[in-house]
Amino acid sequence: MTEQNNVQTLNQFIIQRQAEYPNASGELSRMLHHIGIASKIVNRAVNKAGLVDVLGAHGDQNVQGEDQQKLDIFADTHFIDALRASGECAAIASEEQEDMIIFDDEMGRNAKYVFCMDPLDGSSNIDVNVSIGTIFSIYHRVSKKGELPTKEDFLQEGTKQVAAGYVIYGSSTMLVYSTGNGVNGFTLDPSIGEFCLSHPNIKTPKNGNIYSINEGNYINFPEGVKKFIKYCQEKDSKTSRPYTSRYIGSLVADFHRNLLKGGIFIYPNTSKNSNGKLRLLYECNPVAFIAEQAGGLATDGTQRILEIKPESLHQRVPFYTGSTKMVEKTEEFLHFFN
Ligand code: AHG
Ligand code: MN
Ligand code: MN
Ligand code: MN
Repeated sequence: MTEQNNVQTLNQFIIQRQAEYPNASGELSRMLHHIGIASKIVNRAVNKAGLVDVLGAHGDQNVQGEDQQKLDIFADTHFIDALRASGECAAIASEEQEDMIIFDDEMGRNAKYVFCMDPLDGSSNIDVNVSIGTIFSIYHRVSKKGELPTKEDFLQEGTKQVAAGYVIYGSSTMLVYSTGNGVNGFTLDPSIGEFCLSHPNIKTPKNGNIYSINEGNYINFPEGVKKFIKYCQEKDSKTSRPYTSRYIGSLVADFHRNLLKGGIFIYPNTSKNSNGKLRLLYECNPVAFIAEQAGGLATDGTQRILEIKPESLHQRVPFYTGSTKMVEKTEEFLHFFN
């Protein structure tokens, strides 16, 4: 195996990008740097999971009524600590916290960004050695610097994201993020403990042949989704159908695969949950930002995810994301069978 020469680390990349913007003051760079640190701490725990006491239930439930796993809490705590240490974050909204966390010290009050996160995505896969992730999103606060942040800082449309991304703890660990100027992916080299640029300027295929949806919920799906699944399964040589079904059950892992290979991820509204399951602020918006930046789409079936005005921190939305042609095809079915 040949070693790659001229490896660019995440930190070198961040510094280089910052230098390209003469007015950049380094605050976002410092935040990204600290996200990298927290990711490495979570990665270390995930890697040793069976050997240290991080598996299993924590014993509490979060605000959405889900049983919290020890690793949900571990990741939540370490990302909060890292963001506090960056000194650039005024407040955090997390899946595992009912209310926003405000950093009300001098540094926090004067910081200009707020941070949304799903600290550990794919909780059901933690104990069984299947890929899990972290999802994050950064906004400029709309409240005044020097004052305490408010909920309005978080209830901004996804189009206002300054940066967004995810970490996937998979067969290798990757950090994928965008600051609105394309998408770049970094693979953690465990021998040097650095994220190294491995996937520069990721573009997702315009079309794909993978569909990802929890078909166990089929009976509760909208008619258009049922018909789209049937369409994926039919034989047609012109469109290379039938397509392949792939579903891990970790949004990050399912999305990441489809991003690189081409495909669609769907978590629709169902007759049981009229808004689906996934959360707008810290799951759908950051993933939608990456999807669009890579040339794909993300909608709730009719509307662009990034244009939805959030009403609450833990709001859920139906989610359709991936290759442009596949998302458009699904919307045709939804429209027709509405
Ligand atoms: P989380 O573990 O952060 O609560 O998220 C779980 C989400 C997401 O990762 C995944 O796409 C989805 O739940 C899977 O849900 P189902 O088990 O209903 O398919
Ligand atoms: Mn959860
Ligand atoms: Mn999640
Ligand atoms: Mn989670």
